[in-house]
Amino acid sequence: MNLAEAIADTMVERADHFDCLASTNDRALELTAGLSSTTLPYLIVADRQTAGRGRGRNRWFAEDGVLTFSLIVEPARWRLDRGLWPRLSVAVGGAVAEALAQWSLRDRPLLKWPNDVLIQGRKVAGILNETDAAAPDRLVIGIGVNVATSFLGAPEDVRARATSLSQHGRGVAPDRHEVLRQILWQLDLDFRALGEHSPALVDRWRRHCALTGRLISVGDGERRVSGACLGLEDDASLLVRSERGPERCYSGTVTMLD
Ligand code: BTN
Repeated sequence: MNLAEAIADTMVERADHFDCLASTNDRALELTAGLSSTTLPYLIVADRQTAGRGRGRNRWFAEDGVLTFSLIVEPARWRLDRGLWPRLSVAVGGAVAEALAQWSLRDRPLLKWPNDVLIQGRKVAGILNETDAAAPDRLVIGIGVNVATSFLGAPEDVRARATSLSQHGRGVAPDRHEVLRQILWQLDLDFRALGEHSPALVDRWRRHCALTGRLISVGDGERRVSGACLGLEDDASLLVRSERGPERCYSGTVTMLD
């Protein structure tokens, strides 16, 4: 499947493909404020990134076999008003986990709140949502999926914690454009469900939460909450039973302690 086939009949209005970019999110952020609404959602795909960025100070490791793209959207398209924006991290992670499920035959991709996707406890996809202050109604959704990544040249910590979709299927590497197409479809469906306040969407996030019942620590700036994870709340926050009692986390980075 080529890129044109991948985006046919999806929400994407315009797509750019690059052999190599520093970061699809950087490119998207440069463009966002200047784009007409009629060109959105706008997709930027790169076969290779030389400076892929992750959440916080993380880098996104780039090798052949990785699907890397950014999508510029106006959440209002799905009636996602400001109050729902804090749920978008989980919504994107949940959609990617759902989209990848058909290529992972034994173990379901799970959501590590807020938006890492894990198979057998290893990271298969990472998401970086960003906004440009000059275009506050628009969101850049950056997604990296290890579709058929070898990790041979990867740093030790990446090799220890990552996995590739191709290791969980029938032995044939999934087609990157088919994976892209499935993610685009699922994002559209899930954003619509979020705009309609669908309880079924939240149920699915809960069922596929990798953290429920685990001992975790959530770091968010100066704040740290450690304890048993009680699962996701309706508003996509994470509930943790710490020594101070149940505490809600609205953002942060999770470390597993068990
Ligand atoms: C993370 O795991 O911390 C998030 C990784 C996000 C990586 C994707 S790849 C496409 C897009 N462009 C970037 O520079 N980063 C995101």
